[in-house]
Amino acid sequence: MKSAALVSALAAAVHAGPTTTLKSKPRATELEPITVTGNAFFKGTERFYVRGIDYQPGGASANIDPLADTKVCLQDIEKFKTLGVNTIRVYSTDNSKNHDECMNALADAGIYVVLDANNPLYSINREDPHGSYNTPYLQSVFATIDAFAKYSNTMAFFSGNEVIHDFKNTTLTAKYVKATDRDMRRYIKARNYRKILVGYSAADVTTNVMQTAAYFNCGEEHERSDFFAFNDYSWCTSDFITSGWNKKVEAFSDYGLPLFLSEYGCHQNPRNFGELESLMHSNMTSVYSGGLMYEYSYEPNKFGIVEIEGGQANGGADQTGKRKELDEFEAFANALKKWPAPTGDGGYTKTTKVSACPTEDSHWAIGSATLPDIPEGALKFFDEGAGKGPGLKGDGSQWAIDQASTSEGGQSSDGSGSGGSGTSGGSGASTSSSAAMRGTVPAMEKAPFVVSGIVLLCTLVGAVAL
Ligand SMILES: *[C@@H]1O[C@H](CO)[C@@H](O)[C@H](O)[C@H]1NC(C)=O
Ligand SMILES: *[C@@H]1O[C@H](CO)[C@@H](O)[C@H](O)[C@H]1NC(C)=O
Repeated sequence: MKSAALVSALAAAVHAGPTTTLKSKPRATELEPITVTGNAFFKGTERFYVRGIDYQPGGASANIDPLADTKVCLQDIEKFKTLGVNTIRVYSTDNSKNHDECMNALADAGIYVVLDANNPLYSINREDPHGSYNTPYLQSVFATIDAFAKYSNTMAFFSGNEVIHDFKNTTLTAKYVKATDRDMRRYIKARNYRKILVGYSAADVTTNVMQTAAYFNCGEEHERSDFFAFNDYSWCTSDFITSGWNKKVEAFSDYGLPLFLSEYGCHQNPRNFGELESLMHSNMTSVYSGGLMYEYSYEPNKFGIVEIEGGQANGGADQTGKRKELDEFEAFANALKKWPAPTGDGGYTKTTKVSACPTEDSHWAIGSATLPDIPEGALKFFDEGAGKGPGLKGDGSQWAIDQASTSEGGQSSDGSGSGGSGTSGGSGASTSSSAAMRGTVPAMEKAPFVVSGIVLLCTLVGAVAL
């Protein structure tokens, strides 16, 4: 059953922190890999809570890789240490570049990294999920895995970020994101990498978050995610009950995977980050495993806590400027100190639980558990590796012709219309008109995608897997 990941005796765990390294032979600190048991993360025998921050200097549109440039990352790692975070999320990385220095400096600071395996040019396209699930796309995703699998502090990969939104037709993308999620786990295994966790990061959309969570934890074992994450902007310096978080804990109480917030925050008022008090409290720890505060750098969307000099110039191309801590920097550091990770196991559920697949209804368009087969052209990567990554400025995959196999019936069985017609015909089908139809999904510029309001919630139907 789903990796009742035994507390790994493998990783010869050397703890983070200053090490006495021989000057002649600098070696990276090895962090103990994060594993999953039941609905919780573990670091060795200890429960692990994500106490982190989202790191995207320049914002989504700048689309730079902060871990490929020591002039960027080293300044920020000092700030992360001052804050006391144990995890960062990085939204876009260049799989053609080397990340040794930044990743090792993060490991020295005891910091894990959760990485988005997609980027604006290489991602599932909401307008054409079938056509954009193709070989060049998977090559880029797998190359990102190659680039980061060697680091002990790579905690997890996101197989998608906010692809599913509130329109019912966007839920059709879920099967392609889940297919990617499945393919990533298969690739990690086939390439003999350590087991690195893979899961989806969902938008703050109350109408379908429960179905989405169930969907990524249903079906056959190799198709199910290792965890589920979602973004939540409902707190806004309120409290556990006013924010509705108590209802969400209830709704997710039977959910079988580790759950954490891939973004939390609010920019309406000065924040005290009281979210941490609840996230680290027994009110939540049996169901949630912490979260990532959105976000580190101050961008036009006003969420950040550190201002980067010159960071807004030229579309955010240069993030090497001086750092200035804003007021909320200290507030967040204080919150992390005031509300440490609890001791003990937090009341987690030790058994593996599989969800029932959601059925089609007024918010959810997928009625079957069948996932598309991997595009045939991508099969060779399992044996040969992905090769040189295309980086962040390649041709992009969203117009690529080598699309997913149509063996699962394309989109027609899905009912609700989508703009994908003209892409399922195989060779030659991709003309400039289908290319136009596959216009890029614009990089999500937060304003976080939030459709809040009344809190959910349908009950999660869970089935215990024996
Ligand atoms: C915990 O839950 C109780 C009851 O719902 C609530 O009164 C209290 O404020 C919560 N505390 C935190 C820190 O979430
Ligand atoms: C999805 O539905 C929305 C709202 O009905 C519509 O504006 C959009 O064009 C649809 N997208 C596709 C790909 O069909």
